[in-house]
Amino acid sequence: MQGAQKLVKHFINIKDIPVKDLKKIIFDAKNRKAKRKNLNNLDPDKDIPLKGKLLIQMFEKSSLRTRLSFYLAIRQLGGGVLNLRTDELHLFKGGESIHDTAKIISNYGDIFMLRTDSDKKLIEFKKYLNIPIINGLSPSSHPTQILSDVFTIEEIKKKSIKNLNICWIGDGNNVLNSLIEASTKFSFNLSIGSPKKYETNKTLLNWAKKNMAKIKIYNDPKKAILNSDIVFADKFISMNDKINKKKKIKDFKNFQVNSKLMSLAKKNAIFLHCLPASRGYEVSSDVIDGKQSKVWQQALNRVHVQKSIILYCLEKLR
Ligand code: CP
Ligand code: NVA
Repeated sequence: MQGAQKLVKHFINIKDIPVKDLKKIIFDAKNRKAKRKNLNNLDPDKDIPLKGKLLIQMFEKSSLRTRLSFYLAIRQLGGGVLNLRTDELHLFKGGESIHDTAKIISNYGDIFMLRTDSDKKLIEFKKYLNIPIINGLSPSSHPTQILSDVFTIEEIKKKSIKNLNICWIGDGNNVLNSLIEASTKFSFNLSIGSPKKYETNKTLLNWAKKNMAKIKIYNDPKKAILNSDIVFADKFISMNDKINKKKKIKDFKNFQVNSKLMSLAKKNAIFLHCLPASRGYEVSSDVIDGKQSKVWQQALNRVHVQKSIILYCLEKLR
């Protein structure tokens, strides 16, 4: 069609999505999850909202949970999925451009999920796609993870996240960036404990401040974790990290979430980690495998929230 360009709903960063839409996604995920109690993994939801639709997902980096959860998500909505491996495409190395790749993906598929090593590529794909793109992790954010974590927190704590104290112990990385964005959208208290020089980027913090964020930053993990309801950790070294690994691990030596540190959070605090985890580094085995840890429930909820994200992008949210 010539003329007016179709408005497409993408899911690239939490900060770009109106809070009412984020809340609608969580509400829909809750309803859909409740209705699946007696269904098998591959049984579609009763309304089969995406019958005949195709999700194309592409991974430029390793993934276990995102790959599996998007697979189940689209299948439960009644659609199908195709996984693309970058090493099997003509993109870049064979001289094919993002422009041409995006045009083909738009013609064959209904929605595209990309895990990428470059934020620029996400923007380039968005420019040339005629279908929605979902960010399945980039160097600067991991929005589907964090929206799902908001869902998990409210599910476990049975109250709105705005009444809880959330704490992040560790690196100023992509997952933390999305958590900061969520903290402004959902107005929750966020306390961050990172070593000096590993705090999150200033531009995002300035944006958050302008948007009434309730964020406190400490270089002492003991101060950051005090009075927390939720304690997050993530790997010290992320997939995109091009750093001196030995030095970084040394710089983080006091930032392990172990039972001693956990004892400074609230008694009924829970521990979350997006996984994969390195036991003995950012978290001790007794914490991640202990009673306060909810990481397996957290990982499984990705399916439910991503279903509603896909529906949001395809304008099918009820
Ligand atoms: N949490 C998460 O995104 O896991 P994967 O890297 O395994 O997809
Ligand atoms: N911060 C981690 C998250 C992995 C899901 C990374 O980017 O490697």
